[in-house]
Amino acid sequence: MTQFGSEYADDSPWYTKGDGPYQAWRKRKLVQSNDTASASGPVEIRDLANPSVTEQAELVRRCNISNGALYACAKAEGDSEIVRDQLRGFADALGLRIAEKHRSAGRQGIVALTPSDKKGQRGYIPYSKKAINWHTDGYYNGSDERIRAMVLHCVHPADDGGINQVMDPEIAYIRLRDENPNYIDALMHPQAMTIPENREENANLRPVSIGPVFSVNADTGHLEMRYTARTRSIAWRDDPITRQAVAFLQGFLVGGDPYIQETKMQAGHGLLCNNSLHNRTGFDSKPDTDSARLMFRVRFHNRVSGD
Ligand SMILES: [Fe+2]
Repeated sequence: MTQFGSEYADDSPWYTKGDGPYQAWRKRKLVQSNDTASASGPVEIRDLANPSVTEQAELVRRCNISNGALYACAKAEGDSEIVRDQLRGFADALGLRIAEKHRSAGRQGIVALTPSDKKGQRGYIPYSKKAINWHTDGYYNGSDERIRAMVLHCVHPADDGGINQVMDPEIAYIRLRDENPNYIDALMHPQAMTIPENREENANLRPVSIGPVFSVNADTGHLEMRYTARTRSIAWRDDPITRQAVAFLQGFLVGGDPYIQETKMQAGHGLLCNNSLHNRTGFDSKPDTDSARLMFRVRFHNRVSGD
């Protein structure tokens, strides 16, 4: 069940009526995030299908601090079917439970994001060359189908463009709360964001999805975020503070923030994250050819935790 920030225990950083526990958490979070960002390039993975114990520990450590880790596998495999199997091994090694019942999921529950005119993909932005706005994955899913982690893995980069930006949702929370704690309460409202039902091309009906932007997982105590910057087929709760909060959030995502990471992934590179905010720029590459941009996406129900 969703809780408002004011309903958390007064020793929780998520409690919005007091400031002490939040300030302590915030300070630790920013120091650790800075240290991690400045000290490191991507985590080098020798064998994607079998990450070593040391490699796994470093991926988990970075995800614990900033909810995401870029990695680079020096030996990039060219055959995408082999990469599918490797990614499955990678996810299994990290204890991640593949979530995808997605209509476009292929073998191993992995979705191939590439420009496509295929039925069910034509007209959808992920399968085009267009830019994708800031979002977290599965923002239209019901609360029992939450996406808590994902991997974006580059099989073949675009000739030009296709740059991803990534932001830790906890940093977004900090930006909003520092500006106005009432923004947090507005975005934790159980009716903050509504995505209307949608009739998909295969005639399946995706039900309406109503829920908060920020919520705290009752089992893990971790902050989770559900967000899209889309402006069509979305209804924000109709009150001034919600509108201001959404405008402020959109403002720093588009305007830039020192904690936004930007990457143009090369073949064998990827992002493992706890469903961080992300976007992509538009790109140029020839559709349905071997040289088209091809990214694999795998979504998971559980977080990266190393357990
Ligand atoms: Fe996404």
